[in-house]
Amino acid sequence: MIRNDDLGYPIVIGNSLRSELRHFLHDRDTDVVVLADRNVAPLAERLTKGTRGGVIVHRFDLGERRKTLATLERILDVLIESGVERTTTIVGVGGGVACDLFGLAASLCMRGLDYIGVATTLVAMADAAIGGKTGVNLARGKNLAGTFAQPRAVFCELDALRTLPYARLREGLAEVVKAAIIEGGRFFSLLEEVAALPFRAWPWAEIVEESVKVKTMYVADDRTEQGARETLNLGHTFAHAIERASHYRVSHGAAVAVGLRAAGLAALKTGRFSRIEHGRVLTLLALLGLPLRTGVDPSEILASLSADKKRRNGRLRFVLPLAIGDVEPGVEVPTRVVRSVIEACVTPPSAREFV
Ligand SMILES: NC(=O)c1ccc[n+]([C@@H]2O[C@H](COP(=O)([O-])OP(=O)(O)OC[C@H]3O[C@@H](n4cnc5c(N)ncnc54)[C@H](O)[C@@H]3O)[C@@H](O)[C@H]2O)c1
Ligand SMILES: [Zn+2]
Repeated sequence: MIRNDDLGYPIVIGNSLRSELRHFLHDRDTDVVVLADRNVAPLAERLTKGTRGGVIVHRFDLGERRKTLATLERILDVLIESGVERTTTIVGVGGGVACDLFGLAASLCMRGLDYIGVATTLVAMADAAIGGKTGVNLARGKNLAGTFAQPRAVFCELDALRTLPYARLREGLAEVVKAAIIEGGRFFSLLEEVAALPFRAWPWAEIVEESVKVKTMYVADDRTEQGARETLNLGHTFAHAIERASHYRVSHGAAVAVGLRAAGLAALKTGRFSRIEHGRVLTLLALLGLPLRTGVDPSEILASLSADKKRRNGRLRFVLPLAIGDVEPGVEVPTRVVRSVIEACVTPPSAREFV
């Protein structure tokens, strides 16, 4: 079992965390209400069995399309009906959608109840459960309503990864590669070492630990996202433009993988990044089965980027890699370079780009 306290509360990473969770809840000595994504309700039952007061697991059908105000209201209704008081602790079990929705419900219910997150997807462990951002989607866009609310603890239950479909794991792997480019060193070379192994042989505890460390490092100094946290958006300006231009048919993880290639190319074309390191990033993404090209029309991606620019006072800034382990936020890239990068990302990399 691994524990990270960088954010002032425990982030616990390990397999079969039932006794750790039970001890934590026992020490808090409050009533507990458990909320779970229906797909992991049996796991939530196992993890919270024997908790003081005979816990009931409330199940919700979630998924990105249900990350709405309507679902939020249903969750709040269940909390109120189950008789929560100001001292009740809410435990939320599930992936990133569960983290965002249950965390938001806890932060709003009776003006804020204590919350503990149990992450069951790689995206949740490496990203969504860490840092205290909660939210729902509105008709006009993703995550447009939400709060900053730090949990009392986060448990990354690695056993959950065994039941996760590959497509979901891949979403998380794109974020893990992003974190490894930011961190560099042992983290990046570890991924290179294990990339060709079957997932059951991966050192998941270490990989989640490293990913969490990168996230906490930037969140710790910037909890409300005023500056340093921007670094975590490596590859994401391109990725968000691809997602929007595809009307969200391209998944976030796939868009991030292409976005990491695009950021590498932009850095390469502006003399910031070496061809060899760019090739290492591409090789790793390819070994993990992540896409390196997008079928979305480049002019649509550019239009989406320009719309983004308007929203940010006419300045479009990128986070670019200078080296594996060294990235620079807030880089203004000339439009012609941005255009050529996007045009390049419509075709697979040539052998030369891999070198
Ligand atoms: N708050 C943040 O900082 C932050 C950061 C990154 C992502 N997010 C959000 O996270 C969401 C994506 O998270 P996600 O990819 O985990 O999606 P998700 O929560 O929808 O989970 C993906 C699917 O896997 C199922 N599932 C969950 N755990 C499982 C398990 N152990 N075994 C089998 N199936 C399981 C879920 O029911 C769902 O169908 C997005 O809404 C995104 O906005 C938030
Ligand atoms: Zn992301």
